[in-house]
Amino acid sequence: MEQYIIKGNKPLEGSVKISGAKNAALGILAAAIMADEPVTVENVPDVRDAHVILSAIKGVGATVKEVDKNTVEINGKTITSVDIQYEQVKKIRASYYLIGALLGKYHEAKVALPGGCDIGSRPIDMHLKAFKALGAEVDILAGGIVWARAKKLTGAHIYFDMVSVGATINLMLAACMAEGDTILENAAKEPHIVDVANFLNAMGAKIKGAGTDVIRIKAVEKLHKATYSIIPDQIEAGTFMIAAAVTRGNVTVCDVIPKHLESISAKLIEMGCEVEEGDDTVRVCAKGRLRSTNIKTLPYPGFPTDMQPQMAVALALAEGTSMVTESVFDNRFRYVDELTRMGGQGKVEGNTFYVDGVEGLTGAQVAAPDLRAGAALVLAALAAEGYSEVEDIMYIQRGYEDFDEKLRGLGARIEIVTSEHDAQKFRLKVG
Ligand code: UD1
Repeated sequence: MEQYIIKGNKPLEGSVKISGAKNAALGILAAAIMADEPVTVENVPDVRDAHVILSAIKGVGATVKEVDKNTVEINGKTITSVDIQYEQVKKIRASYYLIGALLGKYHEAKVALPGGCDIGSRPIDMHLKAFKALGAEVDILAGGIVWARAKKLTGAHIYFDMVSVGATINLMLAACMAEGDTILENAAKEPHIVDVANFLNAMGAKIKGAGTDVIRIKAVEKLHKATYSIIPDQIEAGTFMIAAAVTRGNVTVCDVIPKHLESISAKLIEMGCEVEEGDDTVRVCAKGRLRSTNIKTLPYPGFPTDMQPQMAVALALAEGTSMVTESVFDNRFRYVDELTRMGGQGKVEGNTFYVDGVEGLTGAQVAAPDLRAGAALVLAALAAEGYSEVEDIMYIQRGYEDFDEKLRGLGARIEIVTSEHDAQKFRLKVG
């Protein structure tokens, strides 16, 4: 089994190029099958989740040409089935986008229910309710398969009870070729909502208002070919910004949209870091000990839940006590026990982690409980004194392209090893 071995306590320095946004890619790759012409998607992150969705698309007959590591050409014309098997998508929750895409295009989808990270109960009731509002019948079949079908889909006025990224994107997919117009109220505003809408519009859809809480979709008959480049990954960028902060380093994240990083930049400034924004770069420099602060996760433009574990690691090293309140998911503190084994202090009560900052962490053997928590533990290990081993890195590889390689580019001592022998070699090498 692959694991990371890390020798910490070294400031990270230099610049790192940020890949395309994983969460935008998942929506966009699903949306791409809705045209019967070749669609080229650039800046696709080379991460496991993107490969899973591509293989699911191939599984129903779409033509998928991997032009290079980060570019793919998809043609939905060759699709022969609307049936996505559990085996193909069990690893990713965003397989639900294939329901919206297939239902929107063929008026039928049979898709296995989502898996993904175990960060709390993650229902898709709002997606299904909204498909029904467009006129679909929806059943959950044995084996947890969602079967959605409609004689015709009719535009509707939909008010989401809660702000949901997934439901907002799924409804843009399902409604863009319906008959009549759709209005989505209380829509999510995350950067990747805007990216999926821009992509659909590049294929001929008529979607307005993405990025605000009211999205208006004028139905079109069909979508056409397009070439589109995915936005940079806000969460990957944020993770490297925090890597600079926890190692007291000086790191420039490149090819980013600084506006998308504002909630993270603001917190890092409060914690005493220097943050300098360029046109498409953000530099984070940390000298001396971080200061405590409080964070509360919220839908965009609030502090992203996907940055909560990484920021908690920074706060675990800050002077004073901080409160980390998780208000999006209900089980997102599974990394706390692992952090405690590295010397972190604090306790979780309800949806709040009360973090008592310590001066330093100590290397330990830990396991990644999920994607972002796994990345957070790597950050902790980079800051810690001594060696750490991080197991279950397949979670981290779901969403970070070449994570270890990019960190090595900043001077980190990190390697993937598969045996104690490899680990021993690493220890001898780094001393
Ligand atoms: C997406 C992101 C994920 C991120 C999350 C919040 C993708 C592929 N994943 O997940 O990385 O952590 O947004 O920014 O983009 N909810 C319901 N019923 C529903 C749908 C959602 O109750 O039908 C609840 C969820 O349980 C959660 C909240 O709404 O408490 C927000 O979830 P949502 O925004 O839908 O998250 P995802 O789309 O799953």
